[in-house]
Order: sequence, then C-alpha cells, then structure tokens
Amino acid sequence: MPTDFAPTRCDRTAAWAALSGHFEAHGRGFDLREAFVRDPARFASLSFEAPEVFADLSKNLVDAATMRFLADLARECGVEAYRDAMLAGAAINVTEGRAVLHTALRAPRDVGPFSDEVHGVLDAVLAFAETVRGRAGLRHVVNIGIGGSDLGPQMVVRALAGFVQPGLAFHFVANVDGADLASVLARVEPAETLFIVASKTFTTQETMANAETAKIWFLAHGGTRIEEHFVAATTNVEAAARFGITRTFGFWDWVGGRYSLWSAIGLPIAIAIGASGFRELLAGARAMDEHFASAPVEKNLPIVLGLVDVWYRNFHRFTSRCVAPYAQALQRLPAFLQQLEMESNGKRVDRDGAVLPYATSPVVWGEPGTNAQHAYFQMLHQGSDVVPVEFVLFKQGGATLAGDAASVALARQHRMLIANGLAQAQALMRGQTAREAREEGILAGKSAAEAKRLASHRTFPGNRPSTTFVLERLTPRSLGALIALYEHRVFTSGALWGIDSFDQWGVELGKALGSRLLPALDLQAGDSVAGLDASTAGLLGRLLS
Ligand code: F6P
Repeated sequence: MPTDFAPTRCDRTAAWAALSGHFEAHGRGFDLREAFVRDPARFASLSFEAPEVFADLSKNLVDAATMRFLADLARECGVEAYRDAMLAGAAINVTEGRAVLHTALRAPRDVGPFSDEVHGVLDAVLAFAETVRGRAGLRHVVNIGIGGSDLGPQMVVRALAGFVQPGLAFHFVANVDGADLASVLARVEPAETLFIVASKTFTTQETMANAETAKIWFLAHGGTRIEEHFVAATTNVEAAARFGITRTFGFWDWVGGRYSLWSAIGLPIAIAIGASGFRELLAGARAMDEHFASAPVEKNLPIVLGLVDVWYRNFHRFTSRCVAPYAQALQRLPAFLQQLEMESNGKRVDRDGAVLPYATSPVVWGEPGTNAQHAYFQMLHQGSDVVPVEFVLFKQGGATLAGDAASVALARQHRMLIANGLAQAQALMRGQTAREAREEGILAGKSAAEAKRLASHRTFPGNRPSTTFVLERLTPRSLGALIALYEHRVFTSGALWGIDSFDQWGVELGKALGSRLLPALDLQAGDSVAGLDASTAGLLGRLLS
C-alpha cells in the first residue's frame, strides 16, 4: 500500500495559469453555435465512451485547447497518482485518518484490499436477502436510516422498480419528524414487516429515534420475535446488539456514508432485486472503476467531467449545476447526488486546513424531465444565471403495460420523452434572437407592433451549456456504472481543489447545538433561557407559549 499521496492544489500549477489566460482570451466570450460551425467534428471529438455510459460534452463551453489545458491540470495536480493511492487503500481521508475504499466493495473475489472481509459480508447479505424474498407472509421492508444510509438505497430501489420482487413493498424512513415513520406504520402490520436499521455509526439521532419508536409500535401492535423483524446494517455491531438486534451485517470505517450503498447498507436493494441483481449493480460499478483506473486522462470520463466542473466553477464562476434525468424512475437521483457532491466537496479549506482562495462545490439540484420543463426550465433558458444542465437519456424505456396497443402507446411516450430531452439541450444552446422572435410572432398572426413588443420577452440568449448522457436501458448494471461515474467525478474535482472529499465536519455543529437545545423544549413558558442568543431565545419562547 503506498503512503498517502497529496495532490498538488490546482491554483499552484502552471496549467491553472494557462487556463486563466485561455479563459480571458477564448473562454469568457466562447460561443457554442460558432464552435459547431467552425468545427464539424466537434460532436465526435467531445463524445466519450465509458462502460454503459455514452457522454456528449460537445454542448459545453470548451474547445480543444480548453480540454488540453484541463488535462494538463489533472496531470500536474497528480489526479492519477491520488486515484491510485485511493484505490490501493491509502488513508486519503486525512482529517479522520481513514482509507477510502468503496471501490473494494465491488471488486471481484480475491482482487484488491479487504477481499475476504468484503466477500464474507456480501455473501451473508445476499444469502439473507434471498431468504427474505422467500419468507412467507412478508410484504413490507422498512429501511430506517438517513443521509447515506437512506438516499443511496432509496434512489436505487426506486430506480429499479421494474426489477423489484412483486409482492414486496419498500419504505424509507429518514426524517426525525415522526410523520415520516407514522405514515409508513399506518400501512404495515408487524407480522408482515422487516425493519432494517441502517446506520454506519448507530448513533445518529434521527435513526435511533425512529428505530426506538418503530420497536415500541411493533411490540404494542402484537409484534413478536424482534430478532426476525429487526436487522441492522452498521459498523457499530455492539450498539446494534444493545438495541436488541441480533442479526447485524457489518461494514467498515473506510466506507463513507454517501458511498455505502454497495456495502451492507445496500441490504434493501439486495432484497428488492435479489442477489443476482445486486451483483449486476456491483459489476456495473466495477466496470466504471476499471475505466477510471486505466483510461488515459483525455478519455477518462469521470476525470473529464470533474475537470469541466472545475472549469465552470472557477473560471466561468457558475454556482450551480442542474441534473435532469429523463426517466421518472430516477426521481431521487438529484437528491442522492446532492449529498454525494455537496457533502463531499462543500469545503472551504484544503487538506492542510488553509482557507481556499477559490470556490468549490456548486449547488447540485434537479428533477426528472419532462416535469422539470414545466417548473424551472424557464429560468434555465431565460434567467440571469447560466446553469449547466446534465441530461440523462435512455435509449429504451422501462415502462411496461399488458397488451399490444398499450405497449405501442408507451413506446411512443418514450420517443416523446427523448425528443423533449434533446430539444431542451438544443434550445439551451441555440437560443432565439430578437429577430427570430419577431418573425415567429408575425407568422403566428400578430401585428408587426405586437410582435416587436413581445420580441424581447421571447428572446433566448442561448449559448447555455449542457452535457447529455445516453444509456441503453436502466438496469442494475447501467445504474451501478452511472453512480460510480458520479463518485469518481466528485473525487476528481475534490482532488483538483485539494480538499478532503471524504469527511463531513460541516454537519457536526448543528448536531451538537440541536442536542443542547433539546432539553430547552421541555421548559415551561417563562423559564429562564440564559445563555441563548436573543433570536433563538425569542423563537423558543414563541414555540413554548
Ligand atoms: O449527515 C452526516 C452523516 O454522517 C452522513 O455523512 C451520513 O450519511 C449520515 O449522517 C448518516 O449517518 P449514519 O449512517 O452513521 O447514521
């Protein structure tokens, strides 16, 4: 295992200076439409093939020189050596002194670090998942977890709904707001339900509160044999035992919460899609890992995406990125990516603790298309900020209905879905000039004066960047590859920025203050709230009155 390798911070490289000069000369005023006219091969030269994922980056504000300087940046920063250090198990999470080895979770048996441990637990998780799938009378699986112990499994189970064992319903409870748990418990019976308490630490306030309440409800509603109806996925096996759970699937501190769906935290996924489906998910991720580990920088899709992210954030100064999966099944992908990217790279100091002179994680947000088109796409097309958009398209749709006529109708809807995604990317790029808007108005029967009056409202600036991913079909394998692609992209931008992408100290202060405030909610109106700031004290008074 190599010693920890520290990447060089992006702003301390010659490539960064070259990129700054290039941005001033060609980047700031870059016009996508002209770029396509100038270079007929632009689509071919800016398309990338990675396992399961084809990516068109040609509608981005980059040219060949930008890509060259960005590749230089990756090399000068040492992204490849840093990647190799991560894959080999170096403790690159420097603030917690931990290795970062979610890739080990999808390596084949006898390959890579911790293979025996990983495959021992994987075999146990998958064997248990199969018994649950065959358990007579079991109809509900309730996952109690939050953050990485919720978002990944929830996103994947919803995405792969078409592969889920019929007759089993999956519920995900995360919020400490009891309404989340209560709405699920109202729909299940103790004897028909398996509760999975999913928590890396087994100390997270929300998860512990929900698990305690679920246990109280279970016993109060005639539930028996807790050992059959409650299981845990955690690194803290002792705490799970103290809770009264005897069947626990463990994992390790080198699996970050937001990277944990491949571990025992993936148990709901394994129950939903079965052992073979889960192995396919892992295989898809593994294929992307191999691409990430071996493709040259210029063709390495996660590295290229991470580089373009830095170009946009630090040179164009775009503050957010929108993800628009054109697949209803991926409705939770944006939420999952929010944690993955913003908890990983939402940092303002480098690995040595020095305050960074540049911005890091953009805000990541989105909704599935076409719904998003009828909500916030207005702002993407005509708002004052430029927001790069990421379209995720599937050649084949996943929806099925019995009957030939219904199948034909669904196939047509899938073509409509794709046409909409392509059209939005096209509209963002092309825009519409005032003249075109005027002519359109006249063609629509408006008077010249009216067409002129509306033209500025109907003008689209265009030149707005987007990336389009094309996948064959949403399957366990393609989803595994897609998630791993995002993981490695986040790794790349974090490496360039020189930050520790694998800690999350930013959530601690709120947690600590929340625990200190909790006793104050048992006070009576008029009790002293000494020590609190005036606003918090005032709000507390209002809530207690
Ligand atoms: O919010 C911070 C965090 O630690 C996340 O990183 C993590 O995914 C989540 O809380 C849940 O933690 P645990 O799995 O330990 O309950």
